[in-house]
Amino acid sequence: MISEVKIFAPASVANVSCGFDVLGFCLDHVGDLIHVKMNEKPGVYIENIKGYDVPKNPLDNVACVAVDALLKSYSSKNGFSISIEKKIKPGSGIGSSAASSAGAVYAVNELLGRPFKREELLDFAMVGEALASGEYHADNLAPVLLGGFTLVRSINPIDIVSLPCPPELIATIIHPKIELKTIHSRAILKDDVSLKKAVLQLGNLGAFISALHTNDYDLMSRSLKDELIEPSRSILIPKFDEIKNGAINQGALGCGISGSGPSIFALSKGMLNAKKVGIAMAEPYKKLGLEYDLHISSINKKGIKIL
Ligand code: HSE
Repeated sequence: MISEVKIFAPASVANVSCGFDVLGFCLDHVGDLIHVKMNEKPGVYIENIKGYDVPKNPLDNVACVAVDALLKSYSSKNGFSISIEKKIKPGSGIGSSAASSAGAVYAVNELLGRPFKREELLDFAMVGEALASGEYHADNLAPVLLGGFTLVRSINPIDIVSLPCPPELIATIIHPKIELKTIHSRAILKDDVSLKKAVLQLGNLGAFISALHTNDYDLMSRSLKDELIEPSRSILIPKFDEIKNGAINQGALGCGISGSGPSIFALSKGMLNAKKVGIAMAEPYKKLGLEYDLHISSINKKGIKIL
């Protein structure tokens, strides 16, 4: 049996405008590196954190609480030490806590000889997400664990639908270097939505999913709309409207808040368009003198991988 494993846990975009808390896709290249060792010292603990800072206390660390949840369902006499090279900034809106939670449970599952299927790991990883955001949701976790686009039909019981991904679809993500904690950007949301807005959103989500199946980029563009969340949250993101208009004017199929922000994502048809869209999206932050990261990524169809 192997006693250590290194994995790449990718970043992800949740909500995708029309699917708050249910829709997400997985990114290439950007992600955390997680190294887990199984040893004889019982318990789950952090051995080393490099890169962006995250809590080292196991009770406050999303990776540790997620692994603890797994070990409640599959007891082991061994302990696990976790080292994370944190490359996704916490509070950036591209699934930082999801990468660590999903990555850690994935690695421990490998070390235990794979007692759980990838989808079954979501229940444990969600414990990490709940620590970070105050609520259980799997819209970042599902694409990280399963790859591609995913729809979370239910979290209790867990029921995930893997969706097809049109071949030419490319994501552009801009991350202004400010921190927006999910717990705070969820706190400003109202519990109730109007029936009229819910109807519009249902139409958009259904149409978007159909467009993924049929490679209908025009329909995708018409349905990448957020009637429910964007109006409340976009005010927390500097220059959101300007960036969104810039992306659409350069031919993006759609543009919206990535997860709970502050990152903004756009989807485009083809790499060339995605790059042009990226230049337009960066312009307002250049003028403002606000530091940012720009990622241009195809959709990662595999999700987490062992290195
Ligand atoms: N669906 C979540 C939200 C994603 O928007 O709050 C962020 O974790």
